[in-house]
Amino acid sequence: MQSGTKRIYVCHGPTCVRQVRPVWQALLDEIRLCRLADRCELIVSGCQGRCEDGPNINVYPNLTKYAHVTPEQGREIVRRHIAQDQPVTACLYHEAW
Ligand code: FES
Repeated sequence: MQSGTKRIYVCHGPTCVRQVRPVWQALLDEIRLCRLADRCELIVSGCQGRCEDGPNINVYPNLTKYAHVTPEQGREIVRRHIAQDQPVTACLYHEAW
């Protein structure tokens, strides 16, 4: 891994796991398609503590929380956040949800 590598923690806790499979696959596919495997790490995480807002994803460094992530938003997270350092506002987590 290079310095500046981002870590994508994809919740596989008991609630998120029911709907996370297509999101995980979309992330994996887009990372391969964009040839970003050396710039990020895709990690299975446990419950992130906001189960009603899943599927949930946290991206580090500088923690960015995503919620209700669809497969297409997952692809966008790879293309924009991972590749260009621009968080995807459409699926940012908001405390009020
Ligand atoms: S199961 Fe995903 S946040 Fe709890």
